[in-house]
Amino acid sequence: MGADEAGWIRAADRGDLTEGEPLGIEVAGRSIALYDVGGELFATDNICTHAYARLSDGWLDGELIECPLHAARFDVRTGKVLDPPATENLKTYPVRLVGGEIQVKLD
Ligand code: FES
Repeated sequence: MGADEAGWIRAADRGDLTEGEPLGIEVAGRSIALYDVGGELFATDNICTHAYARLSDGWLDGELIECPLHAARFDVRTGKVLDPPATENLKTYPVRLVGGEIQVKLD
């Protein structure tokens, strides 16, 4: 396993993730949300930066995820917060597809 392989971990099967439907998963004790935006895959922390809500229970509109609790919105590609009441960006993770498996890189 080379240095480039460090940190990659299995997150889900590709078939588990549907376009436009966020998927919440637990990876190595972390709650992470996966997104399929027009066939491109993204991963962010699943817990809103405002209070305790799972973004995977929210609504994905294009590349924007809306928190189910107070409707903050984030860009899943960058984690950037776009609407209040959240003020902190979301953490994002690199994602890759290996065969039929979605992997994320944790740090
Ligand atoms: S918990 Fe997400 S906006 Fe308040």
